[in-house]
Amino acid sequence: MTQNILVLPGDGIGKEIVAEAIKVIEVLKADFGLDVELSHGLIGGAAYDEYKHPYPEETQKLAHAADAILLGAVGGYEYEALPRDLRPERGLLGIRADLKLFSNLRPAILNAELADASSLKPEVVSGLDIMIVRELTGGIYFGEPRGIRELENGEKQGYNTLVYKESEIEQIAHSAFQIAMKRDKRLCSVDKANVLEVMELWHEVVERVGKEYPEVELSHMYVDNAAMQLVKEPKQFDVMVTGNMFGDILSDAAAMLTGSIGMLPSASLDINGKGMYEPIHGSAPDIAGKNIANPLATITSVSMMLRYSLDHIELADKIDAAVEAVLKQGLRTQDIFADAEGTTAVSTSEIGDAVVSALRSL
Ligand code: IPM
Ligand code: MG
Repeated sequence: MTQNILVLPGDGIGKEIVAEAIKVIEVLKADFGLDVELSHGLIGGAAYDEYKHPYPEETQKLAHAADAILLGAVGGYEYEALPRDLRPERGLLGIRADLKLFSNLRPAILNAELADASSLKPEVVSGLDIMIVRELTGGIYFGEPRGIRELENGEKQGYNTLVYKESEIEQIAHSAFQIAMKRDKRLCSVDKANVLEVMELWHEVVERVGKEYPEVELSHMYVDNAAMQLVKEPKQFDVMVTGNMFGDILSDAAAMLTGSIGMLPSASLDINGKGMYEPIHGSAPDIAGKNIANPLATITSVSMMLRYSLDHIELADKIDAAVEAVLKQGLRTQDIFADAEGTTAVSTSEIGDAVVSALRSL
């Protein structure tokens, strides 16, 4: 049966990088028998421009009907003055919540070709392969009450609430243990149980769920130490599981270990494995429209989609091999270009075309 992929380019460089990923999907359809159709929708600022909402009903309908979603990025300077509820970021949070995409997988894999692009010494990062599992639909991002209020003395006070229910922790813990089972069977749960009650519960529930996965070696780490360990000795980690905000922060740090945030894909999955796939970087409005952004994270997001939602592991492997081949050829967008011998600086569309020809010649 033909599967439907909803394409949501979003804002900034989103359109350019998604265009390259679509080229790859078209080759898989034409030459490798992939049976998918694409639908197209708007999210973020682009949706606000058209519908005055960052996640409008039109997009909601398309999202519910799709088997998987490919998203570019959201956000732009021109939307910063909008009321909070209408900002592009709210579109992203809205679709995550609406589709109950609670499990966010953010791999940080160092491509051997790019060991020199990392800000850490090559021996610290070579062979790096971490999977961060971030809880995505709860925690302080969604906790109520929230707001900015005026105190009796007229001073303003901002407040948010960090809450997790047992069921939410159980769900993300199962997701993380299952992923660990398919990898090196080591899971590190990151919390702040020394200070926050909600994290004390987190620790306790993860420990309890762990009893169902006796083969997985479970450890716990406070988030401040985890941040330090990530830059000190990142290869100690296999899978990390953490809440929404800690995951947001740690995944950016982990991404940079690999040299460029422009290289990393992500998956956000619901309980049935339906997912939204997006590069972990943002919309980079400063370089939008210049044909210099790195589309490889978006292209490997398609690979994750084939692996986790559409059940085409062999095609996912082909995309990964094609990306690897292109890096071996020395082609680099500017974010990963180090002016080393044998490397050539190329544009967004040139590297996309190179992936396409590498795929064809596999
Ligand atoms: C991310 C981003 C988002 C987040 C923003 C754009 C709302 O930083 O996906 O990591 O904080 O979750
Ligand atoms: Mg982030």
